[in-house]
Amino acid sequence: MKRYVAPSILAADFGKLTEVIGMLNQSCADWIHCDIMDGVFVPNISFGFPILSEVSKHAQKPLDVHLMLIDPEKYITRFRDAGAQNLTIHFEVCRHLHRIVEEIKSLGMNAGIALNPHTPVFMLEDILPFIDQVLLMSVNPGYGGQKFIGHTHERVTKLRKLCNDIKPDVLIEVDGGIDLSNAASLYESGVNVLVAGTSIFGASDPVQMIADLKNAR
Ligand code: DX5
Ligand code: ZN
Repeated sequence: MKRYVAPSILAADFGKLTEVIGMLNQSCADWIHCDIMDGVFVPNISFGFPILSEVSKHAQKPLDVHLMLIDPEKYITRFRDAGAQNLTIHFEVCRHLHRIVEEIKSLGMNAGIALNPHTPVFMLEDILPFIDQVLLMSVNPGYGGQKFIGHTHERVTKLRKLCNDIKPDVLIEVDGGIDLSNAASLYESGVNVLVAGTSIFGASDPVQMIADLKNAR
């Protein structure tokens, strides 16, 4: 099973963004996770196109862009132009999910769908054949540094089974409250990608923490 780590720069020092990206380039991180929040879908505002373009200029790893905003269909091309390689939209904000997924794919990006902790994983059954990754929120989206919701383990097990039945190569990503206490068990339940902000950027040695998360046993 593929094991990826995607550090979320939401928890990084934005005053030292170039150094942060340089550090991630040197680490064994696989993707750089960028959280875009609009203050409407979630009760927080993070950053937008100018910062994303800056990150993209320096990054030597794919940008994994997680859109926590309403009306994502308005901005798909702009996120591609700002450097997104993986573009993940929330199930809860899309009326025409299939249309948006097709647009993301037609622009050459990988398409992901994110689920809030309350959204049943079986809702993805008919869209799974069209997508590349599913992001399960293991906290309520909006902030870094929140406590991992334990029920996520059961959701991963259900989703892994659904993916195995329908499209086994869909990557399962978990986002929120990830650290060394839950990394190993999540990988074992069938997760491919761990997103982590606070545990990486709050560590005394972030490069080592990225490696430790990836090799967690
Ligand atoms: C939360 C974001 C997460 C967040 C994770 O809404 O989607 O990506 O940055 O941060 P930690 O690892 O601190 O929970
Ligand atoms: Zn995220």
